[in-house]
Amino acid sequence: METQTENKKIVLSFVQSSGAPTIGNYFGAFKNWHDMAQENDCIFGVADLHAITVRNTPADLRRRSKEMYAWLLALGLDPEKNVIFMQSHVQEHALMAWILNCYTMFGEASRMTQFKDKSARHADNVNVGLFTYPILMAADILLYNADMVPVGDDQKQHLEIARDIAERFNGIYGDVLKVPAPYIGKKGARILSLQEPDKKMSKSDPNEKSFISLTDPDAVIAKKIKSAVTDSEACVRYGEGKDGINNLMALYACCTGLDYDAIERDFAGKGYGDFKAAVAEAVVAEISPVRSEYERIIADKAYIEQCMADGAEKARRIAARTARKVMKKIGFYQI
Ligand code: TYM
Repeated sequence: METQTENKKIVLSFVQSSGAPTIGNYFGAFKNWHDMAQENDCIFGVADLHAITVRNTPADLRRRSKEMYAWLLALGLDPEKNVIFMQSHVQEHALMAWILNCYTMFGEASRMTQFKDKSARHADNVNVGLFTYPILMAADILLYNADMVPVGDDQKQHLEIARDIAERFNGIYGDVLKVPAPYIGKKGARILSLQEPDKKMSKSDPNEKSFISLTDPDAVIAKKIKSAVTDSEACVRYGEGKDGINNLMALYACCTGLDYDAIERDFAGKGYGDFKAAVAEAVVAEISPVRSEYERIIADKAYIEQCMADGAEKARRIAARTARKVMKKIGFYQI
């Protein structure tokens, strides 16, 4: 995709290369990416620059970035039709992030709840990158004139700041940057921890029982769902004070397409054991074909690197054009 195809929307999103993706990433983001890729011009990236806001060994960063890229291919996203690339392969992201830093107020960046959470979790490494992280994200989005950004609920605030930055910039220089709209799916926008269902499921959670990774074998998936925290009511119904069951119902709904009323009807009179077994079966049926495809792709380094190179070239062309326009508007001396 070189330029926007007529009448098609530009859909863009990224995932950090901070570990194997979870079913939270899958249901909150990837599944929507896959569906939206059928009808739109799509740009998907592995946010490896974002990943260095926490410490990685060089070998881990390299491996995780390649693996995350392979997951995107395993989802069935077509690298010829879409732009699928590694963020660090396009230097305009860092350039644009610096520029946008100068159009972002310290106060508005300070309000980001994810910064507050992450700095509490990584108290020994509260680096400035963690603070300016949403501005790099704004750069990712605004460089590609994205119309729509499909994300999970946790990224909503970051999209709002990207819109505010674009509007501020346009207020000074005219209609330069496209103001993107978030796309947050109705189902799966916030998959919760299986052990502490008042918290988001996260690939960086130290308790492995709290999340299901796309790399987990079928038996491990079933075991983790079996040990998910629920409540003592023993009734499969969506309601207040039932975060654990609500979460399992959301997972089941994502896999089967059923709504909550239908799930309640199907499991009326049945216990949590039966329900958990059905959820596990549905999650395995959804995930295992993607995992098989991933295993096939990860073994083919030449194919992955060819896709990365092609993706970077296509992305670079679009990003360079926007960066040039932005620099001209600001008044950088151009030769
Ligand atoms: P990341 O890598 O944390 O997550 C990738 C996507 O998965 C969604 N997600 C979830 N959805 C539902 N339930 C969950 N438990 C869950 N956990 C994660 C996230 O909302 C996200 O959509 N900063 C971003 C990556 C990024 C980005 C961008 C996104 C960098 N530049 C530009 C959009 C546009 C992040 O860390 O996502």
